[in-house]
Amino acid sequence: MRRWPKMPALRPAARRRCGTTWAARGQRRRSPGLQKEEQELAEELGPEAPEGSGSRYRVVRQIGSGAYGTVFEAQDTLEDRLVAIKRVKLENDPVHLRRTLREVALLSRLRGAASIVSVLDIMVPVRDGRFTEVHVVLERCRTDLRKICSTVAGLTMSQVRRILYTTTRGVAYLHSAGVWHRDLKPANCLMYPDCEVRIADFGLARAVGRPPARLPDPDPARPRACPAEQTAGFTVHVCTRWYRPPELLLAQREYSGAIDVWALGCIFAELLQCVETPPEARQGPLFRGDYARRVGGGHLVWPPEAPRAPRDQLDMIFNMIGVPSVAELAELQNQEAVDHVLGFPPRSASGIQAAVPQADEWALDVLRRTLRFSPPDRMTARELLEHRCVAGVRDRQGESLADEVLTLPFEDEPDDIGRLAEYLVHELEHFGAFGRSSKGKGNGV
Ligand SMILES: Nc1ncnc2c1ncn2[C@@H]1O[C@H](COP(=O)(O)OP(=O)(O)O)[C@@H](O)[C@H]1O
Ligand SMILES: [Mg+2]
Repeated sequence: MRRWPKMPALRPAARRRCGTTWAARGQRRRSPGLQKEEQELAEELGPEAPEGSGSRYRVVRQIGSGAYGTVFEAQDTLEDRLVAIKRVKLENDPVHLRRTLREVALLSRLRGAASIVSVLDIMVPVRDGRFTEVHVVLERCRTDLRKICSTVAGLTMSQVRRILYTTTRGVAYLHSAGVWHRDLKPANCLMYPDCEVRIADFGLARAVGRPPARLPDPDPARPRACPAEQTAGFTVHVCTRWYRPPELLLAQREYSGAIDVWALGCIFAELLQCVETPPEARQGPLFRGDYARRVGGGHLVWPPEAPRAPRDQLDMIFNMIGVPSVAELAELQNQEAVDHVLGFPPRSASGIQAAVPQADEWALDVLRRTLRFSPPDRMTARELLEHRCVAGVRDRQGESLADEVLTLPFEDEPDDIGRLAEYLVHELEHFGAFGRSSKGKGNGV
């Protein structure tokens, strides 16, 4: 009879950080040529792999790592192809658990969508009815845009346009499905040699569609309970600083998918700097701030007596696009944000063109319309697909939009480790991640 795994045995974050958990494994005999982490994964996938893992994948080498997972190249011996395996170690922390949950749930629901990385398989090595990590098998892309921007000798304008177009196609799909990525940056955009991008890393993504209501629809005439301490809107602790739009830097909780469009503009500017320019002559990220002062929610990470940090993220943005107009200020959702912006002295904007001289007329138009202070003033991803800038590289047949808005059943769950872990087991079961035979075909596509 099939044995269902128990709840995951979560690894306390502190213990993992000091490395004690993995000490015993480090003493095992290593295969020649494999580094420690590669060896660890190889052992999980190897012939003596515990229940639930398969030996179908042979680890080749580590190809990437982020704040949260380590990614390996592996040979899929059944399909005779290379794949990427993202190894995520679970931690006893609701934020981390929610990341894993979002990644697993969204990747499995977005399978087959244009310009989104495809999940091929998910495996969970179960020992004694428990699991402490998740292995997500993905299509193996050649590289990512961060590596391109820092190492590739020089891109042509047409390559940059194609990269912009295919990334935008993915964002347009996500937005049509009601999903905001919330962490678009070069390292999360994978790429094939023909400049086809696959958007990856859905740990911070959010499905904004509401799950079917469990309670009857609210009657607008009925008064609504609104506890004082409860704040509407979404968390503002998303997006890597250099790609974070003004509304997040100003802690505006009612934000929209336009945060991804801002990041698209930043990525495009970074790519344009690569046009026929050697890596050492590039400036890198467009807004490379050292600090992002947080306003709202009681977070002030810079002392009040020093009102502006050196190379403050927002300050750098204002240097380039200017301080917001009165009309733009009026759109901010709270006085605290308005006061914060008014603390920045007016200045004449240096302009985007000065920072990205490689941009031609159409590229500049895209930059100006994606890097707007006010989210509603930014073009949408779908409008960008129609823009003259990408007309020459557009492939209409390859574009698609979602049939329906995605909803995730756990989005409104509070940060309760037990509940989130339950949802994770449910998602993994749904994918069929448990109980694979070691040579099984699994869910491979
Ligand atoms: N499918 C893949 N093919 C090739 N490289 C990948 C793939 N997935 C991830 N990578 C590499 O691994 C890095 C980290 O992956 P990511 O999913 O962003 O992890 P994290 O959630 O820790 O940021 C990426 O920046 C990229 O370099
Ligand atoms: Mg990442």
